[in-house]
Amino acid sequence: MNGWSLIYENYEPEKEGLREALCTLGNGYFCTRGAAPEAAADGVHYPGTYLAGGYNRLTTQIAGRTIENEDLVNFPNWLPLSFRIEEGPWFELERVKILSFRQELDLECGLLQRTVRFQDSEQRISRLRQRRMVHMCNRHLAALETTLTAENWSGRVEFRSALDGRIKNGNVERYRDLANEHLQAISTGQPSQETIFLKIRTSQSRIEMALAARTLIFSEEREQSPERHLEESQGYVGQTFELNLPRSGSVRIEKVVSLFTSRDEAISECGLEAINAISRAPGFENLLEHHRRAWAHLWRRYGLDIRETDGSERVRMILRLHIFHLLQTVSFHTIELDVGVPARGWHGEAYRGHVFWDELFIFPLLNLRTPEITRTLLHYRHRRLPEARSAARQAGYRGALYPWQSGSNGREESQDVHLNPRSGRWIPDNSHLQRHVNAAIAWNVWHYYQVTGDAEFISFYGAEMILEIARFCAGLTTWNENLGRYEILGVMGPDEYHDSYPGSDRPGLDNNAYTNVMVVWILTCALEMLNILSGERLLELKETLELSNEEMENWEDISHRMRLVFHDDNILSQFEGYDKLEELDWKTYRARHGRVMRLDRILEAEKDTPNRYKCSKQADVLMLFYLFSSDELASIFERLGYPFEYETIPRNIAYYLERTSHGSTLSQVVHSWVLSRSDREGSWQLFTEALSSDIDDIQGGTTHEGIHLGAMAGTVDLMQRGYVGIETRGDQLRFNPCLPRELRRLQMRLRYRGLSLELEVTPRRLSVTCVQCGCEPIKIRCRNDEATITGGQTLVWNLTQE
Ligand code: BGC
Repeated sequence: MNGWSLIYENYEPEKEGLREALCTLGNGYFCTRGAAPEAAADGVHYPGTYLAGGYNRLTTQIAGRTIENEDLVNFPNWLPLSFRIEEGPWFELERVKILSFRQELDLECGLLQRTVRFQDSEQRISRLRQRRMVHMCNRHLAALETTLTAENWSGRVEFRSALDGRIKNGNVERYRDLANEHLQAISTGQPSQETIFLKIRTSQSRIEMALAARTLIFSEEREQSPERHLEESQGYVGQTFELNLPRSGSVRIEKVVSLFTSRDEAISECGLEAINAISRAPGFENLLEHHRRAWAHLWRRYGLDIRETDGSERVRMILRLHIFHLLQTVSFHTIELDVGVPARGWHGEAYRGHVFWDELFIFPLLNLRTPEITRTLLHYRHRRLPEARSAARQAGYRGALYPWQSGSNGREESQDVHLNPRSGRWIPDNSHLQRHVNAAIAWNVWHYYQVTGDAEFISFYGAEMILEIARFCAGLTTWNENLGRYEILGVMGPDEYHDSYPGSDRPGLDNNAYTNVMVVWILTCALEMLNILSGERLLELKETLELSNEEMENWEDISHRMRLVFHDDNILSQFEGYDKLEELDWKTYRARHGRVMRLDRILEAEKDTPNRYKCSKQADVLMLFYLFSSDELASIFERLGYPFEYETIPRNIAYYLERTSHGSTLSQVVHSWVLSRSDREGSWQLFTEALSSDIDDIQGGTTHEGIHLGAMAGTVDLMQRGYVGIETRGDQLRFNPCLPRELRRLQMRLRYRGLSLELEVTPRRLSVTCVQCGCEPIKIRCRNDEATITGGQTLVWNLTQE
């Protein structure tokens, strides 16, 4: 790797799935895995093209019940481009002797290149160079350029360029027993000599997709017109053509593809638009120029440069890779779409492309650079408010209950049962009891508003969501007369290892600290928000939502008398009764199973359950220290009438950290954050682990099923909000830098309230330059020093390490 490239210099079939996910190209509208153009799904390769929000539902009989799953659909493969020499076998890496291999993902301009020099069984040596892009400027286009050079031979080569819609979802081994045929063929054709056309639809959601591929052939930069043969079958269309290659001669083939769907706006019919677009599309070089420019615009906003103390470039490059994949999943094109941000990117099929609470880790990065994208993603939630209201009603509550897993229309998409691949057993899945997803949505609305001051959004969309969430949360509480406290019973916290009490057949746990505190925060936030709405809008909302004064008084009361449970001298209990659980013998399990990240699967396979033990998959109580500063937490505790002693924070952190297996990649991000000021080495260690989540696939082979977008964005956010200590509170942009020893310098750009700011942080100095400002100066603060900044100004603070 260098600062801008991910480079592989050999071909390793066992790592191909991982590389395909990491080399995915996309533009927020669709993504295509970095599978080789000649490859089909065969256990080593898995080509995948995913449309943002392209879901379909299928039913399966499994474990004695009928279940319906909504999946992110693998749409037709636009890549197929292969060749064979003198009627030999079609090119496959597995069939030739590889003399040299290089695959490079250029992050700066979103280009994937592969160069292979190989020798076939007839001792012919050839060179293959391929470049591809999924266009960041015109979201409907993608292109693949292939150059084949005959080094020591001459002869006839046959090429095949195709669009393949005979695709089944098959990326995730665990889902293999579930129905997976989502596509139905509609039509194929050859609208012009050089263009092939394919149209399909999804079986249930009825998304029609049309693809047109134009294949042009050049030799010595002159366009060639060999005779083309059309191949058509159900869901498949291809063209073959032959050429004679002289010794040392090359042929260059440009395949440009357009992709439209029936969900697109400003179209007549997607097939027509695909054909129109391809007839107007320029050539590869021209496309590349515009693509580069679009990426340059993105990097201008998202640029991040760090200097590592040991002179290496690893951290810088991986952080850029993380930003790159975020921007391929959600980009400016997302603004036109009705989609959420999927936990695993549009890069693979794990978690079926669903949207979880992971946006909590993603939005802070978007907020401070392209808040327009956050706003769109919040609209995705707002449009699904009616569904969330209906889910609340069905569960016996008022207000809004957002689903733990969300897909097309916002109904609960969590599975009823999931497969433990270790035991082969299907287990009931209670993860939908994670009510804290509501808290994440309210939190995201509020923090988007803190960064942007977008009063229109909060008035017409955000406030309604927060109020309805607050109403649901208030309904979730029950009054405990004996304790004189409100409680929340039967829920799950972020730690998914615990979903009920040992031996109990009632799902859920009582008084999960994270959920209870977040409910207090939501209610206070809802009350505070009523004060910022204009009188007119407030009245409208109160009338529409039938929000009475008694209801608001009840919120106020709950926000003062919620119950928290403690044990062992001020350890905040993850839930009531946590202290009664057994200690797990971590040493033995680690000796037997290594890193034991998926302890739940290990224990279940032994017919045991994590419910019996003090062991967590990921941060739960400690999420509170991630989301709130210690001062903010202190004021919540004070409001509740519980003592808050700053000295107990490190004890709480140590207590839960040593009982956590990091079974989610989000876990290291949170733990690194909570240690960032008290234990800089420990924090860095966890940060580097989080950084390795995907590039080194540390979760035991999950990245080929999709990247972990929360951890990717979370690591970059650790740099900005964690180590630079950025906070956006009270109309003020605050800094409190504390760089890890491993970093000598950090530079990045931010946007805040319409201002564009350049930051440079070293262990001793923070400098903030306002490069662009078309609006009022903003209030800014470094630690306790307050100032204002406006266009053209630079402020510098000398820092003493804390
Ligand atoms: C984690 C959840 C997360 C989900 C999607 C799970 O493994 O436990 O917290 O939302 O993955 O990333």
